Amino acid sequence: MSKIKINRICCIGAGYVGGPTMAMIAEKCPHIRVDVVDINEARIAAWNSSTLPVYEPGLGEIVERNRGKNLFFSTGVEDAIRDADIIFVSVGTPTKSYGLGAGRAADLCYIESSARMIAEHAKGPKIIVEKSTIPVRTAQAIATILDANSIDGQFQVLSNPEFLAEGTAMEDLAKPDRILIGGEQTEEGLAAIEALVSVYAHWVEKTNIITTNLWSSELSKLVANAFLAQRISSINSISALCEETGADVDEVARAIGMDSRIGPKFLKASVGFGGSCFQKDVLNLVYLCEQFGLPEAAEYWDQVLQVNDWQKKRFSTKIVQSLFNTAMNKRVAVLGYAFKKDTNDTRETASGYVCRDLLIEGAQVAVYDPQVSLQGMKEHLIYLGVSEDILEKQLVSCDSALEAAKGAHAIAVLTEWDEFKTLDYAAVYDSMLKPAQFFDGRNVCPHKDLKELGFDLYAIGKSDS
Ligand code: NAD
Ligand code: UGA
Repeated sequence: MSKIKINRICCIGAGYVGGPTMAMIAEKCPHIRVDVVDINEARIAAWNSSTLPVYEPGLGEIVERNRGKNLFFSTGVEDAIRDADIIFVSVGTPTKSYGLGAGRAADLCYIESSARMIAEHAKGPKIIVEKSTIPVRTAQAIATILDANSIDGQFQVLSNPEFLAEGTAMEDLAKPDRILIGGEQTEEGLAAIEALVSVYAHWVEKTNIITTNLWSSELSKLVANAFLAQRISSINSISALCEETGADVDEVARAIGMDSRIGPKFLKASVGFGGSCFQKDVLNLVYLCEQFGLPEAAEYWDQVLQVNDWQKKRFSTKIVQSLFNTAMNKRVAVLGYAFKKDTNDTRETASGYVCRDLLIEGAQVAVYDPQVSLQGMKEHLIYLGVSEDILEKQLVSCDSALEAAKGAHAIAVLTEWDEFKTLDYAAVYDSMLKPAQFFDGRNVCPHKDLKELGFDLYAIGKSDS
């Protein structure tokens, strides 16, 4: 089998995955030129500026070191496709909002348009890598589009799903638990797999690079996210039971997590999981199960999402109930809008759902998040169905937690930013109306101190708070 030499890589899609992933490849493989291309001009301009469009600890330094040397961001999709040996496709695959499978299936329109662009501009042999998360058997659809539309291209399609988590993307990329590569089990397919392995092998141990067939690789990504989401819904369902029984959910998580068969990670009870992928990927899995005639399997996975929606609703209901059943014209301070700490991403954030419910109840919602702008919050809340009129009248963006708390009846911690662990809660308490209500959706605050200061405390999975 002849070895394929990789000199140039192109990545279509300069988002949360494309940008950081390609920055890491450029850093670890200085001999490879990496072109990250996108149709969104504003995003590309941001990648070429000092304010990157994605906030990730450590990303700025890596981009700074390599940009203009072997890492380039541009809208020059055609040239980058023409010159690349490997083309990563890292475009969005959101839940379909129209037509067949609306609300569940993945919308593959960006994947399809990428495949059509590749077919049009590629000449000679190219390795096409699915980096986006897609339904099982999408590689077949991509290959069909490429073969039907290309005059000069010869293609091998690989699946190489990304497992990074936002907020820790650079660490995850530098030291991945595993790299997964799926391809056709033919001579050409195996040569393409080997070529991609050779890129990762510059910094990842070969034993951590798994190669397999296409369909197993594609499906493994959806299943990994479904299992992670399932653990959170499992512990969140138990958090409600803890609140009723006097058990403490963190103690239960500690006890079960020490069983090596269960393990300690992803057992943190919370106001609900957010992020762009868990919900959409579980929905996608549910849809696939239905399509393949497995309604019982579909229903099982759908429960993971139902519990998550219930947990978010339980939290906002608790706030309204504690405000004597009406939040009308009451100020509620919200600490954190991002779906987790160390990111500016608001997609599917639990904080957004809680803010939406409070705004609809008539509350004045004063939000502080260290990375999310007022514009970012507004766009997200409009997407959740809140009217511009309500936002104008009731949403306030604040520059600090203390500013948000001033004159508030209640305060809710909805993202676990480190700075919320060490706030001057005595000053926060003093600035609030009494009785001052505290709702900890992440269990990251010093509960004993809060109670001693005089707060009425509600924390997820704690009955004595
Ligand atoms: P994103 O929306 O941040 O970025 C996608 C980019 O693709 C956008 O900038 C868009 O303009 C661009 N794009 C769309 N069509 C294009 C085209 N035809 N040509 C050029 N550019 C085009 O999305 P993301 O968060 O980076 O996610 C991308 C994929 O990776 C998704 O399938 C997602 O499920 C998966 N994933 C995401 C994460 C994460 O942490 N965000 C982690 C693992 C996997
Ligand atoms: C997740 C997966 O962890 C990644 O492996 C995957 O690549 C990615 O989805 C993807 O496909 O997009 P991400 O959503 O960025 O990553 O972040 P997570 O750390 O998984 O957190 C997701 C949500 O679950 C957050 O809202 C977080 O606060 C919540 N969570 C996480 C909990 O409520 N409890 C936990 O114990 C862990």
